[in-house]
Amino acid sequence: MKKYKSLFYTMTLAGLMSVMAACGGSDEEAGSEVDEEATADEASDEGSEPDQDAEEVFSLTLITEESHMWHQAALVFQEELEERSDGRFSLETYPAGQLGSEADMLQQIESGSIDFGFITAAEVSSREEAFSAWLAPYLFETIEEAHEARQSEEAIDILDTLEGSNMLGLDYLFAGQRMMLFADEEVTGAEDMSGLTLRVTPSPAMLHFYNSAGASTEGMPLTEVYSAVQQGVIDGMDMDLDATITNNFAEVVDYGAVTNHMVWPSVAIVSEQTMEGLSEEDQQIVQDSLEVAADYSAETRAAQEEEFIEELEDQGMEMYEIDQEAFEDQIEDFDEEFAPQDPLIESFINAHR
Ligand code: BEZ
Repeated sequence: MKKYKSLFYTMTLAGLMSVMAACGGSDEEAGSEVDEEATADEASDEGSEPDQDAEEVFSLTLITEESHMWHQAALVFQEELEERSDGRFSLETYPAGQLGSEADMLQQIESGSIDFGFITAAEVSSREEAFSAWLAPYLFETIEEAHEARQSEEAIDILDTLEGSNMLGLDYLFAGQRMMLFADEEVTGAEDMSGLTLRVTPSPAMLHFYNSAGASTEGMPLTEVYSAVQQGVIDGMDMDLDATITNNFAEVVDYGAVTNHMVWPSVAIVSEQTMEGLSEEDQQIVQDSLEVAADYSAETRAAQEEEFIEELEDQGMEMYEIDQEAFEDQIEDFDEEFAPQDPLIESFINAHR
């Protein structure tokens, strides 16, 4: 694993050089420097068709719809892989849970039948508890802060816990922070939650947060949520603005509380078999390509917050804010419960709280 860890540091340095070059107006640096805007535009112009003439067409699976940021980031990853390998590599993406739930996807990556996945840290935390650290409530104020924290020693140590599982964690990609959707009542804090059944992405940390606020919880994959709220099985859900739009939840819920209570990384995971089959140079191409995709995702998404809120208001939802003060007890409770469970969770919270 050391090999991959050092790759990550190299990648980080390459990213820094790229930022420095951009600040200095230089376009001379090679390595991982790219024109991110051009890359993203090219990727979306050309769509997601893999280049079938490539020597190796990798596969990538994810739960979100094609319009979601993570799928856009997957297209950037594809474009970068193709360009950096001079056409030797391409990528076929399976979005919208085409290959099953995220739990199924992890099994497919583990067995080597799928090469890559962008899998929520929430789902991965059901396998490796250290990933719960990312779900600590109100740990980061902004997506940019979390994106930067992904390069911290603690964040990399968490990726390394996948070692020995036939999978490797390579990076984190961020979408919007978590918010709360309620079908028919305006909930303003923990005191309104008792008696409500709220859906969360299956993960011990998310279940704990809402249970400590007094709600009943249902762990449920994203693909099942629309019909669950439509049929009245749940009264609301933990979600993000992005997936609220891409899954048309405004059709079935009336209230959206913008809490930004938790950042939302997906973990870029690769089958160990796939990575081991690549030369060191090609492993670096994979890492560099992912870094560009991760930068694209965080930077593009951070600028879209207001636009997404307005879009949901236009669709008829009542959007409002709930401040962090409404969940102070739950923050304290989370840290007390989860930090002692794993030294990596403790050090991550201590480093970033
Ligand atoms: C969810 O489970 O809520 C979710 C998963 C992936 C992206 C966005 C939301």
